[in-house]
Amino acid sequence: MIAQHGSRPISSFDDIAYQTSINPAHSTTYSVGETLTECPETGDLLDICYDWNKVPVPSSLREFEARWGTRRNPLDFSGVWRFRELLPFAPEDQVVTIGEGQTILQQANDVAKYVGVDSGNLYLQYEGLNPSGSFKDNGMTAATTHARMVGAKVAACASTGNTSASLAIYASTTGLLRVVVFVGSGKIAYGKLSQALDYGALTLQIEGDFDDALKQVVDVCREANIYLCNSVNPFRLEGQKSIMYRVLEGLNWEVPDWIVVPGGNLGNSSAFGKAFIELKELGLIDRIPRLAVINAAGANTLYQLYEQGVRWNGGSPDRDKIDTFYREMDEQNRRANTLASAIEINRPVNLLKCLRALEACDGVVREVNDAEVLDGKAIVGAGGFGCEPASGASVAGARLLRQQGVIAPSDRVVCILTGHQLKDPSATVGYHSPESDAALREKLAKAGVHDSAHKNSPVAVPNDFKRIMDAINRID
Ligand code: F0G
Repeated sequence: MIAQHGSRPISSFDDIAYQTSINPAHSTTYSVGETLTECPETGDLLDICYDWNKVPVPSSLREFEARWGTRRNPLDFSGVWRFRELLPFAPEDQVVTIGEGQTILQQANDVAKYVGVDSGNLYLQYEGLNPSGSFKDNGMTAATTHARMVGAKVAACASTGNTSASLAIYASTTGLLRVVVFVGSGKIAYGKLSQALDYGALTLQIEGDFDDALKQVVDVCREANIYLCNSVNPFRLEGQKSIMYRVLEGLNWEVPDWIVVPGGNLGNSSAFGKAFIELKELGLIDRIPRLAVINAAGANTLYQLYEQGVRWNGGSPDRDKIDTFYREMDEQNRRANTLASAIEINRPVNLLKCLRALEACDGVVREVNDAEVLDGKAIVGAGGFGCEPASGASVAGARLLRQQGVIAPSDRVVCILTGHQLKDPSATVGYHSPESDAALREKLAKAGVHDSAHKNSPVAVPNDFKRIMDAINRID
């Protein structure tokens, strides 16, 4: 049985949880009652750390199964908070949950065939099944919980779409926060924009892209004391660790060989690495899976830096190389550009945390082009529940790694599908039916998608019974 801890004021959680710079050379700690998005001393990203000796962590992951039987308790129902001993920063009565994390790990044999691994070895983790349709809800439940703990009344984020949808749904369903979201003008898929609008968020369309919007929102939040919900907020990533707990749960607590995930702002990959480092430290897993982070070729900062040999290097990454890369990017005005709009990001804020995760997980980084992304997405749709374009990058990346012999046919591979199929209908319709819309066709052609290898175009038929039957009889 898992010991239950009751509600405690923040001060008692101060004994257990604290914030500290990711830079191992700096050991100053900050209370979880503080709202910080960088270390006040070093300017580096922050981690939430725990004194595990004071936490009633179960002796085996299997013990969490006891909570399957107590789903009437909203914390046990949540796919994030039923693992609360692994992110113990919040008193139970402060937790903000809307039933996130009811997601599914599907064994997908058609996708296994496409990727080139043995039947039975390819799994899809459908994070699009979250309430707002993306993995972001895992993080937003944690961020809004912290916002509540510190008494925030207004929250904001910059977004390529899913973060804004997620923050907006937590605000609208709980009534705890007012929300401002910053999106790049014309840079967000319609499904996502429609969510932010429907859930009542003040939606600012910034002339510019995500990188511009993020820079602005950070300054605005600092100036106006607004609670920032982007993944520079370390509490968000605590929630996203739970995606890995559920993957393990779906595999009967066995560790897979590979986790493959699309990389945008690099919050997920960072959170996954932290989850595995902690589970190993706690003796709850005996080995750490390998991590593959997949960039879109049009937004490939991590890939390029990794190719240049930039590594976490035990906490001393080559910061000069990174600074030079960004300086040149600015001088040449290089902008992210991909049909996978969720990951259209050139300045990933969690770069260093991701490098740390890659080191801990013996990781690899690859890039895939938009045609490969959309083909991967179509294969997922044809054999499963579907996903949005960015998620297709994980299947395309797994296929590439298999072709390169990095992934073996006998490896057990989990591809993380980050967003729901309905998020970006234009990309899907454009892929399957390019001729239906000249603007869509042009957009795809510009991205190098000329012929959709796995398209399923609609068939035009006259309003005539016999001709309809003829069309149906052509099915083989
Ligand atoms: N997949 C989807 C569907 C996303 O929405 C995002 C990020 C990613 C992958 C990349 O994840 O940032 O953890 O590497 N979307 C953010 C947003 C940036 O604003 O919704 P990451």
